[in-house]
Amino acid sequence: MLCGTRGIGAGVALSLARRGAAVTVSGRDADRAAAAAAGLPGTGHGSFACDFADPAGVAAAVAAAGPFDIVLLNTPGHPPGPVDELSAEGLRSAFETMLLPVRGVVDAVLPGMRRNRWGRLIAITSSSVDVPIPGLAGSTVVRSAVRSYLKLLAESAGPDGVTVNHVIPGKVDTDRLRSADAAAARRAGTSPDAVRAATLAEIPVGRYGTPDDVGELVSFLAGDAAAYITGTGIRCDGGYVRAF
Ligand SMILES: NC(=O)c1ccc[n+]([C@@H]2O[C@H](COP(=O)([O-])OP(=O)(O)OC[C@H]3O[C@@H](n4cnc5c(N)ncnc54)[C@H](OP(=O)(O)O)[C@@H]3O)[C@@H](O)[C@H]2O)c1
Repeated sequence: MLCGTRGIGAGVALSLARRGAAVTVSGRDADRAAAAAAGLPGTGHGSFACDFADPAGVAAAVAAAGPFDIVLLNTPGHPPGPVDELSAEGLRSAFETMLLPVRGVVDAVLPGMRRNRWGRLIAITSSSVDVPIPGLAGSTVVRSAVRSYLKLLAESAGPDGVTVNHVIPGKVDTDRLRSADAAAARRAGTSPDAVRAATLAEIPVGRYGTPDDVGELVSFLAGDAAAYITGTGIRCDGGYVRAF
């Protein structure tokens, strides 16, 4: 299993480790990744450093650290901005950090999964795949491309016992969300607590999600019980997205 050091990636790592999986943690810093792996329950965990800003380097690092039978495709997001400010360079960088590394990791792990006739590719996407987010134009455009890529991949890999799905988080309480709330508060001239309270009013279950909430869903998708689920995205958002 390939996971992350903080936030949603760490929640997935913990959830799978609790179930007895040997987890490999990746992040930009080797020591931080090693510390995150060392803190997991169970044995057999590992770690390595890679930077999603370098898609070819990520693919090479994953190939060297593998093989993996379950892989979390958890790229960083992209800086905020409206569509009128989405430059060609901004769009290119969104593709380079959010789509090309996914393709690179898939290239590194899918052949082994096909040989084993078993594998799980599970991406973290965003509610923007269902409802575009005007303030996250670059991310919104590329997330849809990621979803299309995963859908095509699910068709190709299904006959070999490999499922391909994505989890669609709503508001998950991580460093990233806390920074986004702080930035929104600065723009609106209010406090992060006020931003949080306004968002909570939009979430039917009345709280932000936790990395563990997402980890439990990913763990289910990673298991044999989810063998018939592929080519789809499943929301984990407390009812936040108002779409069917
Ligand atoms: N939190 C939410 O509410 C939410 C909602 C929808 C979608 N998402 C998406 O879910 C994904 C994860 O979000 P999060 O909230 O878990 O973020 P986070 O708390 O900021 O964690 C980001 C993780 O990615 C790693 N990372 C960051 N930049 C990297 C890079 N260039 N190369 C390699 N690893 C990198 C970090 O590890 P190191 O710092 O150790 O490198 C860390 O483990 C993002 O794509 C985000 O857009 C999040």
